[in-house]
Amino acid sequence: MDATEKKRAAARKALEFIEPGTKLGIGTGSTVNCLIEILDEARDLIDCVVSSSKASTALLEEQGFEVATLNEAGDLDLYIDGADESNKRLQLIKGGGGALTREKVLAAASRRFVCIVDDSKLVGMLGAFPLPVEVLPMAQELVARRMLKMRGQPIWREGFVTDNGNHILDVHDLQIVNPIDMEARINRIPGVVTVGIFADRPADILLIATDVGVTELRA
Ligand code: 5RP
Repeated sequence: MDATEKKRAAARKALEFIEPGTKLGIGTGSTVNCLIEILDEARDLIDCVVSSSKASTALLEEQGFEVATLNEAGDLDLYIDGADESNKRLQLIKGGGGALTREKVLAAASRRFVCIVDDSKLVGMLGAFPLPVEVLPMAQELVARRMLKMRGQPIWREGFVTDNGNHILDVHDLQIVNPIDMEARINRIPGVVTVGIFADRPADILLIATDVGVTELRA
């Protein structure tokens, strides 16, 4: 199975978690795009849908979904999103697509977070994938210096502006031994909007697409 087929398989499995009357949060990225392509199959079960990015909103609207704001929807029943890395505790690195802040908000607002990945994303320790950090543009250099002090190598994602008007630093070479502690430490740096470690609120269910099917890990 190639990577795209695995993404499609994980997305199809995620459809099974949508129940009648679901207030649904939708993440961002190529795996989630596979879900949006088939979301019509669950249309009658969905009470309302909220999106984590302008890109996903556009795709959902193309499929004929009316996208609500989180303020309109209130708490969500289910959030489905991909990830760049997951460990076995379902702690994640996210933000490869730059939508980490809204993704973290939707994950926090959701009763259940189902994360869909292919097996290349499962790791022993988080950090091989460069850690995305959304920063206020005026604080970019300050945050970069703080990341160097933490032994990370920050690289500005040049030319990229988030949906919130901010910048992304991709921090290489971080050894994330304690994800909860690292998430809190980076979030405390003035100018950091969001760090892409999802450990304080990890996924509840990880659907991992492999060559032989989709396996499920629960927190
Ligand atoms: C976007 C994300 C995505 O979930 C993450 O980058 C995975 O994307 P893909 O499904 O394309 O591999 O966090 O901000």
